[in-house]
Amino acid sequence: MDLRLASLGHGNVGRAVARMLADKADELLRGYDVWFRYTGLYTRSAGPEIMPEGMAPAQVVAAGLPMGDRLTGGSRPVSDALTFIRTCPADVVLELTTLNPQSGQPAIEHVRAALDAGKHVVTANKGPIAYAYRELRALAERQGVALRFESTVMDGTPIFSMVEASLPATVISGFRGLLNSTSNYVLDRMAKGHSLEVAIAGAQRLGVAEADPSNDLDGWDAAVKATVLANVLMGADIRPGDVAREGLGADAMRQRHGALLPGQALKQVVDAVHTVTGGVQAHVRLEALPPDDPFAHLSGNETALLLHTDTMQDLTLIEGQGDPGQTAFGVVADLVNIARGRGRDVPRPYYAV
Ligand SMILES: NC(=O)c1ccc[n+]([C@@H]2O[C@H](COP(=O)([O-])OP(=O)(O)OC[C@H]3O[C@@H](n4cnc5c(N)ncnc54)[C@H](OP(=O)(O)O)[C@@H]3O)[C@@H](O)[C@H]2O)c1
Repeated sequence: MDLRLASLGHGNVGRAVARMLADKADELLRGYDVWFRYTGLYTRSAGPEIMPEGMAPAQVVAAGLPMGDRLTGGSRPVSDALTFIRTCPADVVLELTTLNPQSGQPAIEHVRAALDAGKHVVTANKGPIAYAYRELRALAERQGVALRFESTVMDGTPIFSMVEASLPATVISGFRGLLNSTSNYVLDRMAKGHSLEVAIAGAQRLGVAEADPSNDLDGWDAAVKATVLANVLMGADIRPGDVAREGLGADAMRQRHGALLPGQALKQVVDAVHTVTGGVQAHVRLEALPPDDPFAHLSGNETALLLHTDTMQDLTLIEGQGDPGQTAFGVVADLVNIARGRGRDVPRPYYAV
């Protein structure tokens, strides 16, 4: 099967996706009978590049952006992202633009336009799933196309595809996780004797933290991820602002770190439970974990998620040090699942409502 890709965003993740599709081209063809061509690329600064004949991932990797004269047989007939999405001759739109944690836009518009145009969507951007999952899922269902988003939480760790493929008829009644790698890294460095400022600078040098780490330290990133998990796995309909963020931020980290008892580990913990009224209540907070807590020994920027299920009791996934390569793997896994027909006929919701 030939799948034509139009990518919105071609930054760390977008480039890593092209590299992985190039590196794994043989395995994908031999194992899954699928090959990929890029027919469009769009970024904020480079604008649209449409290649009707398509370019192999390896050619895209070699060309970089903007392609300018290196654009083979391509053109720039459109100027805005929505026109690009509608007109680019693609089977799948990759939404790999920057997260807007306050509204999810303009990525929600991008995903809506792609589904409306009858194109499958794979997104690593949490915004559309956190702010508009029900609407977009219903639209995908009506259009008979796939909406897949494995890389929105814990990079490419197979959370959603594991639940979809391997936990039939399972009720997920709650979860607990360490989902923000910057906080995990900074708190781990503080536990090893570094000051908060030195720990943040180290995370920035490694590319784990943004220049402004407040979205991570104040719990916004974790709240957006908790929303995605609650809405997809637990049938909730909450927004990031509904997630209670308690006692977070740089000052709280310093204070709580200074008050730790011997053996305790300070972590930014996310959890969610069903309430007696049938809703879902999610929190992000700093917790002093005792040494026997399974999350107490996670180090560096490792992340983890524990699902409370009625079939497998507690299931825990731990991701070693994440990077854009692992995020790219989640996108590639979603693409393979589309090629294999998963999500094309949109199975019934696999969460319990
Ligand atoms: N990095 C990771 O490991 C990771 C892990 C999980 C999820 N994610 C998610 O994956 C997405 C991409 O992350 P990244 O690390 O690749 O970010 P990045 O390196 O900052 O790249 C973002 C890309 O999106 C483009 N872009 C931004 N706004 C746009 C718009 N309105 N229209 C068109 N293009 C736009 C940028 O274009 P310009 O460069 O021209 O501005 C750039 O090409 C984000 O939503 C992020 O939260 C990333």
